[in-house]
Amino acid sequence: MGRRKTTHAWIRGHLNDPYVQQAQRQGYRSRAAFKLLEIADSDRLFRRGMQVIDLGAAPGGWSQVAARRVGPEGRVVALDIAEMAPLPGVVFVQGDMELDATVETLLRALGTAMADLVISDVAPHLSGVAAADQARSVRLAEAAVDLATRLLKPDGVFLVKMFQGSGFPEYLALLRRRFARVVTRKPKASRDRSREIYLLARGVVPEDSGVVPDQGLG
Ligand SMILES: C[S@@+](CC[C@H](N)C(=O)[O-])C[C@H]1O[C@@H](n2cnc3c(N)ncnc32)[C@H](O)[C@@H]1O
Repeated sequence: MGRRKTTHAWIRGHLNDPYVQQAQRQGYRSRAAFKLLEIADSDRLFRRGMQVIDLGAAPGGWSQVAARRVGPEGRVVALDIAEMAPLPGVVFVQGDMELDATVETLLRALGTAMADLVISDVAPHLSGVAAADQARSVRLAEAAVDLATRLLKPDGVFLVKMFQGSGFPEYLALLRRRFARVVTRKPKASRDRSREIYLLARGVVPEDSGVVPDQGLG
């Protein structure tokens, strides 16, 4: 099939997608909001008053969900390399999450508080070269786990999107070293054909603690 036909088929599929239509009706900026809502409900991710960091936040669907769930007494700090239009209850930081300067800005935005929850839906802009795109996704997910372990409270929670393929087993092993419990989630709103999967990790393991983390995978 030619590139133009493929693009037309994708656009038609996207417009007919029930989650895209639901996102438009409910005022969410992305269909991805429904993936987070599903995991939030099954795994009780949010409480009012929480401090949340949203990595790779633009256009803002996850931040909208987070801000609604934590309420005005909580705080949502959103980060993206791209611009994001303002959202009520969300502090936006524009920057590359792989740069130290961005991490410093995030720390300042959090103030003295540590985060209760770090959510990462970061994905690279695709080049079309599958192996290069997968390698870039893994690198970004690694940057996300580094940030999360620096910014989270000891009993904090980290939710991260990953793509199954090269580097995935190693990434899962890394998460299991850095967190006490790790489970996988594939929400219904995540298209079956997509290799994306969400990893939910709880309890930061201090480095060199000697603690042997739970290897269970739900
Ligand atoms: C799938 S989108 C996130 C969608 C978002 N969760 C929502 O619900 O609207 C992935 C985002 O990761 C961002 N991203 C990619 N590389 C990044 C980097 N190095 N630093 C920060 N953000 C990055 C992209 O700009 C993009 O906005």
